[in-house]
Amino acid sequence: MEITLTAPLDMHLHLREGAMLAQVAPLSARDFAGGLIMPNLVPPVTTPERLRTYKEEIRQAIAPHTFTPYMTLFFTPHYTYDFLAQIRDEILAIKLYPAGVTTNSQEGVASFDLDLLAPTLEAMSQLQIPLCVHGETNGFVLDREAQFLPIYKELAQAFPDLTIVMEHITTHEAVQTLLEHENLHATITLHHLFTTLDDLAGGLLRPHLFCKPIPKRPEDRQALRELAFSAHERVMFGSDSAPHPRSKKEAPGCAAGVFTAPLALPALVQLFEEANALEALQAFVSDNARRIYRIDPPAKQVRLVKEPWQVPESYGDVVPFLAGTTLSWRVDAL
Ligand code: NCD
Ligand code: ZN
Repeated sequence: MEITLTAPLDMHLHLREGAMLAQVAPLSARDFAGGLIMPNLVPPVTTPERLRTYKEEIRQAIAPHTFTPYMTLFFTPHYTYDFLAQIRDEILAIKLYPAGVTTNSQEGVASFDLDLLAPTLEAMSQLQIPLCVHGETNGFVLDREAQFLPIYKELAQAFPDLTIVMEHITTHEAVQTLLEHENLHATITLHHLFTTLDDLAGGLLRPHLFCKPIPKRPEDRQALRELAFSAHERVMFGSDSAPHPRSKKEAPGCAAGVFTAPLALPALVQLFEEANALEALQAFVSDNARRIYRIDPPAKQVRLVKEPWQVPESYGDVVPFLAGTTLSWRVDAL
């Protein structure tokens, strides 16, 4: 048995820089036709020079694969209409992080006073630049996403023509908010479709499952699965694949991020097959994103075959999600 996906896309991807980029980028570029590249580097991607250098570094790392890196800027309220008009063709979206809620977000937005953010958001709306949001507050860790939902509603109402993407949603409340506003969209990760808080912390602590937002309750995971398996037209796959070296994960202060890129497609096919939802997968991993972002990725066909495949224990210094487990599908070598 086999399945062929046309132009699979990963609409939330951390590639890092330097040696880590060289290690992980080819793995995404092998299996996907494109990805939305997150800007939370140190320092973050906020200038045209940094954007161009970073894109060039990615381009060199992914050769010879066919893969489009869709670039993003790190949101600051200092971006003017003129600045954005000039850089518009070099980016696909702008990513907003509340200050301090996740890895390398210290320089994010400290206040959601919409008066402060409005000029930049209005310019983005006029220039049709989508806004991607890490929607968490600094509150109690299980409630952070739910506490942020009023801000999503406010943004959706104040900027009705702005394409807003709720990144890596994890709760049934977030699904509800998504459904209530036409200009809200969402990405769902692989690990939030697979895990709950029990997998992370219910038995022995599993640092390689630790990420922001943390996985939640079984009923939250069920709501995410139903949304993905129905390939709702405003939902997309975004792995949030976020590699950290083993020394940063197996440590007293464990870094947040789960590395899923090299096994994302086989694991998705397995999950969708078990749910009898394979016919929704093409929309979830490509077609919806193409429509939402108005992109035309390379016409790359990625074939998966139903043969047991053991996820490697590590890729260099990075331990992947589901390390060592056997999946029922593998990507066919091109
Ligand atoms: C991401 C990272 O490591 O860059 N970590 C994570 O837990 N998801 C940042 C992010 O997307 O929150
Ligand atoms: Zn992320």
